[in-house]
Amino acid sequence: MEIKQLLTFDDVLLVPMVSKVSSRKTVDTSTYLTDSIKLSIPIISSNMDTVTEATMAITMARLGGVGVIHRFNTIEKEAEEISKVKRKQNVIIDKPYCVPPNFTLKQLSSFIEEKGVSSFLVTSGEKLVGIITKRDFQFETDQDKKVSEMMTKDVITAKKGTSLEEAKSVLHKNKIEKLPLVDAKGRVCGMVTTRDIMISESYGSASKDKHGRLIVGGAVGIGSDSLERTKTLIDAGADFIVVDVANGYLEKTADTVKAIKKAFSIDVVAGNVATKEGVINLKKAGADCVKVGIGPGGACLTRPVAGVGYPQLSAIMECSGNGVPIISDGGIVKSADISKAIAGGAETVMIGGLLAGTDESPGSIITKESVNYKFYRGMASVDAFADRSFKTNEVVDIEGYTPEGTEKLVPYRGSTVKIVNNLIGGLRSAMTYLDAKDLKEFRANARFVSLTEAGKKESKYI
Ligand code: XMP
Repeated sequence: MEIKQLLTFDDVLLVPMVSKVSSRKTVDTSTYLTDSIKLSIPIISSNMDTVTEATMAITMARLGGVGVIHRFNTIEKEAEEISKVKRKQNVIIDKPYCVPPNFTLKQLSSFIEEKGVSSFLVTSGEKLVGIITKRDFQFETDQDKKVSEMMTKDVITAKKGTSLEEAKSVLHKNKIEKLPLVDAKGRVCGMVTTRDIMISESYGSASKDKHGRLIVGGAVGIGSDSLERTKTLIDAGADFIVVDVANGYLEKTADTVKAIKKAFSIDVVAGNVATKEGVINLKKAGADCVKVGIGPGGACLTRPVAGVGYPQLSAIMECSGNGVPIISDGGIVKSADISKAIAGGAETVMIGGLLAGTDESPGSIITKESVNYKFYRGMASVDAFADRSFKTNEVVDIEGYTPEGTEKLVPYRGSTVKIVNNLIGGLRSAMTYLDAKDLKEFRANARFVSLTEAGKKESKYI
């Protein structure tokens, strides 16, 4: 049997060349997640429960990348995270959250917590009767006080179908922050807020759908609820679905992709695989993008447990160029890894551990001996497996479970914006070294050299 010697990121360097591209600022880092979903930066936050819920997905989309909401939750909770993203920068909100006038302050507070917003329209039936914002109740101490006693009653409204420019002018003229849209019978049919307009205008390169809302993906598995989950996520506004399985070679993975593509009109990302055969199999099933990576991730134990895997750079090189965009998933620990993954042929990279330590990931900061950390776990870890039964009411057999993922503390890293900007800064720098004004040229100009142990040491890789 012939045994190939394959390579990963730290085994190689990109070769510089004479370059006309003199500034990092002028390069274009845009790419495609699928043929129809364009991103300004090639970074996706991982569908893991210590990495991507709504807050991370909102930040990623604003930065020009995208986040995938994890599936280790009930269908309703996952859909709720998707809908939080879709509402966030939605300049015209189609279905604003409404509360009834007889809601108490106590009920309102738990609604605020659940929905993650702090002002609501007040409706009786569907009819608008008021608006309640934080200002109306922030110093109120009586938890039984009714919304009707605290709300603003004379609400300035605009008609259904009002254009964004008209709405802006009404907001400006009346010095108000929120403008509900109502139909001829006074029923709520939308809302425009000053904040959403300002945010939308300040994130020029954000990833947006055709209505100007932020883009977000939702993950599903290959179990019996995958079609139901997909439908609920699409109804909540998901722009694409990720069929997320550690072993994307399972026939059931391709079957699930086929079933989703048949039932719905939505882009599907499928994985994970690490060879051309795996990519072609999922492409034939209808995948619009394939996720590549068996075991390179920071919390992965597949390689030590199963002895199965494929060094990530070689996997990318083998999997790219097969007529379907690929995501390099796992093993990105520094900006150089992104440069090499993209140069090797990946359209985008997916990141877990590096983003798990940020303010935008779920979970709180843990301080140990005066150092700050956040918790990160593989989705096939014992910890995640046990938690799944708690979150989804699934009955699980912990004793019989062989984990292929681990749990760990990762350094607290502050803002995702800073991390992503640094990562993209590294990619931009690599592009200037390779005379590439865009990622297509970057791939075309890429040449790799492999490193000896001394070369790795010189490169600070070991
Ligand atoms: P990084 O290196 O960015 O990797 O932390 C994130 C990716 O790791 C994969 N993943 C796992 N792989 N066992 C595995 O073998 C696991 O428990 C596990 N959990 C996540 C996943 O592809 C993710 O995007």
